[in-house]
Amino acid sequence: MQYFNNIVETIGNTPLVKLNKLTKDIPGLFLAKVEYFNPGNSIKDRIGIKMILDAEKNGTLKPGGTIIECTSGNTGMGLALASVVRGYKCIFTTTDKQSKSKLDILRALGAEVIVCPTNVEPEDPRSYYSVARRLAREIPNSIHMNQYDNLSNRQAHYEGTGPEIWKQTEGKITHYVTTIGTGGTVMGTAMYLKEQNPAVQVYGIDVYGSLLKKFHDTGELDTKEVYPYLTEGIGEDFIPANYDMSYIDHIEQVTDKDGAVMARKLAKEEGIFCGYSAGTVMQGLLQLKDKFKEGDVVVVILHDHGSRYMAKIYNDDWMRERGFLTEEVVTARNIIERKKITQLVYADPQETVAAAFKKMKEMNLTQLPVMEKEENLGSITEHSILQLLMDNPAHREDPVGQVMSKPFPFVELHATATDISKRISKESAAVLVKANSGMVNIITEFDLIEAMA
Ligand SMILES: Cc1ncc(COP(=O)(O)O)c(C=O)c1O
Repeated sequence: MQYFNNIVETIGNTPLVKLNKLTKDIPGLFLAKVEYFNPGNSIKDRIGIKMILDAEKNGTLKPGGTIIECTSGNTGMGLALASVVRGYKCIFTTTDKQSKSKLDILRALGAEVIVCPTNVEPEDPRSYYSVARRLAREIPNSIHMNQYDNLSNRQAHYEGTGPEIWKQTEGKITHYVTTIGTGGTVMGTAMYLKEQNPAVQVYGIDVYGSLLKKFHDTGELDTKEVYPYLTEGIGEDFIPANYDMSYIDHIEQVTDKDGAVMARKLAKEEGIFCGYSAGTVMQGLLQLKDKFKEGDVVVVILHDHGSRYMAKIYNDDWMRERGFLTEEVVTARNIIERKKITQLVYADPQETVAAAFKKMKEMNLTQLPVMEKEENLGSITEHSILQLLMDNPAHREDPVGQVMSKPFPFVELHATATDISKRISKESAAVLVKANSGMVNIITEFDLIEAMA
């Protein structure tokens, strides 16, 4: 029989999944470590059990005790799962920025959840840090786990995430990329990987509104960098003890909007349905595309599952209200980028109507511009050829230049589908566009429909 003794034993050994579309234009192999395969659907399951086991070992957590933590939800889930298995009670403080669904999940696992205001200083007695500290003082036989300063957090990744990645990539990893919050994920894994190969590059992805990047780059703890942001689970307004910035080679910041839009793209293009910070890490990675070269093996951490964000980034109204959902406008540029035939097929004014029709048949086209030395002289279509032949079949030997119709009009690269459709009519079956390279392209009614459908 093959089974686990309890749910906690299923934590870790998450798969590495190759990214195929989002990173297709960047050299290197990009592998996502998909942490939603953990039983609580996030990477934080790893630290939940580790912090509990370490606290049992050092005697700070005793049988029947109460675990108190400030958590955005995922760490709470990890602690709640492990607490059910090991027999502890949980009280979590969190902020009013977090998805309600995340909090309901914690309550489903038997935890008590206290929601505190987001926009107060960490030292403010109302902050979720202060409330957790106070409860730990007041409640007998309780422990404040404090994932920020508790080094069991990064140790969980030093013992789990790091060795797993090293083994899964057969030691070929060149870059490790992750979002950064408490710092546990980046630090523990980076410490292990750099111990194996100091050349492994570690990139932390932060959010605008957090002071982590400025602190990393300058050593200055600049609270002027701090402002409210929407991305959940990442960025900080102080430096948790889990950090040693010397292990992080670069920190890149991403906007709330870019992270949210990218999370939706990750789901649509890769079929990997993740949370907000997964969009942030992918966006950060794309911002850093020039740092990668052929042969690189890049591992990206995707922290949690998308189901917890249904009321937020996966809700169109939420996205629209924040100006994150800019309707995609189809332009001439998008259309020509999508076209399969990139070389412009045209008729020479000297060639016969029969030769031009043969060309159309071979290329499966219903119209051709008539051009000479890049000059747009006229056009010929299936419809106009039929009219000519009905009039007199001998027209098949006429030079195209003598029987052609009006030239197709030119539109600008930024012309929208609406602009283009106005120019396409019975008299003009297509429009022409000059790309930045100088090359002329054609957009037909069919191309327009294909781009819109
Ligand atoms: C969704 C999500 N992404 C990223 C992180 C950041 O990970 P860490 O705290 O290990 O730096 C967290 C942490 O809470 C998280 O919940």
